Amino acid sequence: MRLSVIGCGYVGLVTGACLAEAGHEVVCTDIDRDRIAKLQAGGVPIYEEHLEEILASARKAGRISYTAVAGEAIRAGEAIFICVGTPPKESGEADLSAIDHVARQIAAEAKTPKLVIEKSTVPARTGLELSRALSAYSRNSNIKFRVASNPEFLREGTAVGDFFHPDRIVVGVEDPSSAAELREIYRPILEKSFRCPVHDGACPAGQKAEFLVTTISSAELIKHACNSFLALKISYANVIADLCEKIGANVEEVTRAMGLDPRIGGQFLNAGLGYGGFCFPKDVQAFIYLAAKVGVDFDILKAAERVNKQRIERFFEKIHQALWVVKGKRIAVLGLAFKANTDDIRFAPALEVVKGLLQEGAIVHTTDPEAMSRTKALFPELHYHEDPYDALRDADAALICTEWDSFRKLDWQRAGGLMARKLVIDGRNLYSPQEMRNLGFEYYSFGRE
Ligand code: UGA
Repeated sequence: MRLSVIGCGYVGLVTGACLAEAGHEVVCTDIDRDRIAKLQAGGVPIYEEHLEEILASARKAGRISYTAVAGEAIRAGEAIFICVGTPPKESGEADLSAIDHVARQIAAEAKTPKLVIEKSTVPARTGLELSRALSAYSRNSNIKFRVASNPEFLREGTAVGDFFHPDRIVVGVEDPSSAAELREIYRPILEKSFRCPVHDGACPAGQKAEFLVTTISSAELIKHACNSFLALKISYANVIADLCEKIGANVEEVTRAMGLDPRIGGQFLNAGLGYGGFCFPKDVQAFIYLAAKVGVDFDILKAAERVNKQRIERFFEKIHQALWVVKGKRIAVLGLAFKANTDDIRFAPALEVVKGLLQEGAIVHTTDPEAMSRTKALFPELHYHEDPYDALRDADAALICTEWDSFRKLDWQRAGGLMARKLVIDGRNLYSPQEMRNLGFEYYSFGRE
């Protein structure tokens, strides 16, 4: 099929690249002309595992192209994926101005009927407004627009794998023909007839994705409901961790046993500094805002958000307890990205920690495998090191802020020999307290003695 993708950020680029790799012809556009120029020249503006490889392969096969002229992209596709940003406003409400702008562009530029698919995370009822805008701004009443919602469940860092191996594909539609068209778009994924870059083409035989057809409002709600539930799960684990500290239990023992109950499941129960990133904090906020707007009490989610914000305070309590005075101390911050395997620092808990340390007058040395260049632009006053052992040299304390695998594998015997004081405050529970103490470290983490 011929498809258009509007918005070349994480979601749009991954969607466009994967659909092209699955056999469709894709035209991508973005208002950021530099980004389009970079893509046209064969560059990749974001870091996402396997993305470069599939973009190159789709480009070689002539199945992906880029244009800064939105009208060209709009006219090229039978179906158009809207993948533009929906950042939070001050109030927590999602800012839908980019979606509105794109709707007006599609209405003005389209010459043939289109299936317009919202992929950006949007609050319920956006589909209705989108439909209204498309007909209100259309210059030709003979051109019919159908609207659908097709939320993405991609995680940063594993987005390509998630796209090719989804648990479910949700399509919210107004009519059966839109569902049939979306099923056709996803047929290679449903039938696993694509070349999978993650498994070198030989994917393990696994469960097939479920193709769920719902109303547009349900599809919109599903995305927020999923992200909010996962955020709730993390905050729940974090409160259990606080409780464990008070009564001398071990949060890992508790959450492991919880997770073995299939009704609960073991993922997203890791206690620590809490969730960050551009999805959970804003989606939780937007869901709270939406519920309040329609008069539904979502206090449980407000509590989850409050618990998450308190994680930074709890971390600083540990820092103060261990270090006493922070001013003038040399602190090694290990990890800046909001989670492992990404260079994304948006709403990263690590940056809140850095901010607090600087306010208290610490000298901050830091390292992160991917996120240093982005952080440098915001915090030029930090001392950046490629090698974690250089960041740890002469440090009075090491703070672990991101769950990178390379940090798990650090040689703390060696690091201990370099540090001014053998003190580790672990915001991601990466190490065994016993092993760290055996190495002579003062060691603090969340929910474990
Ligand atoms: C999240 C969802 O997992 C995706 O399904 C969704 O599509 C995406 O948002 C989105 O809305 O686009 P992502 O933001 O990439 O994906 O990050 P996650 O892997 O979900 O992690 C979120 C945060 O939770 C990270 O800061 C991570 O460190 C933290 N986390 C995760 C914990 O603190 N504890 C855990 O047990 C798990």
